[in-house]
Amino acid sequence: MTSFPNEQLPAMASPAELRALIEGRRAVRRFTPEAVADDVIRDCLELAVLAPNSCNLQPWSFQVIRDPGLLARLHPVCMGQNAARAPLIIAVLARPDTWRQACRNVIDYWPEAEVPARIRSFYSKTAPFQYNQGPLGLLGLFKRQLVRLLGLRKALMRTPNSRADMRLWAVKSTALAAENLMLAFHSHGYATCPMEGFDEVRLRRVLEIPRQAIPIMLLAVGRQGEKGVYNPRLRFPLEQQVTWL
Ligand SMILES: Cc1cc2nc3c(=O)[nH]c(=O)nc-3n(C[C@H](O)[C@H](O)[C@H](O)COP(=O)(O)O)c2cc1C
Repeated sequence: MTSFPNEQLPAMASPAELRALIEGRRAVRRFTPEAVADDVIRDCLELAVLAPNSCNLQPWSFQVIRDPGLLARLHPVCMGQNAARAPLIIAVLARPDTWRQACRNVIDYWPEAEVPARIRSFYSKTAPFQYNQGPLGLLGLFKRQLVRLLGLRKALMRTPNSRADMRLWAVKSTALAAENLMLAFHSHGYATCPMEGFDEVRLRRVLEIPRQAIPIMLLAVGRQGEKGVYNPRLRFPLEQQVTWL
């Protein structure tokens, strides 16, 4: 495997700095009307898409909603919740449907003059086979039977082999990007609230979301308003959730 000495990790945040950033983020439900500058939004989106993601196919997209008229239409779609009065809302969409273009993108945007043969082969043959579920998901059905058989003899990756698998596949990576996005805004002094409390049917209509895209959350963003945090921080004891093996 080639190594990239010039891509060694640059100066890292200290554990204490990272802890402060993560601990400082809270779900904020009241914002001031101050707009969020476009260059801050762009910086945060650039960090969002640095999230680790499956096969580097980056199965996400974002709609940045700043238009006051559109924001006003979103408020009732979010069932009138306070957080949806933010001056900025970003719709975070998982995209199980963009893998074909993404496979081409990896080759087109490869950051070296020559695309290595193993990369070209993976993204032009292996990945398209892996992610294609065929018309009505029939190829997925066939692949499920195939891996069941082949899996008797050796360890195999068994998903994604259905449209439901594809949705889960895209949502996993997109949720990581959403967390990056929240932390990035927090680092700029802006508060956020992830929201899944919305009417998906109305949301799709208002934002003209492509049919196969999955709105996994709306991210409300702005300067924290008075009494913006409703409750003290609560997390369950780690012992309930962690198994040490
Ligand atoms: C996927 C997701 C959906 C959420 N939806 C809403 C929502 O619709 N409205 C809201 O006020 N908070 C929402 N939240 C925020 C959570 O309630 C909040 O993160 C949780 O209570 C923990 O609080 P903390 O983020 O301040 O630690 C959501 C969080 C996530 C991750």
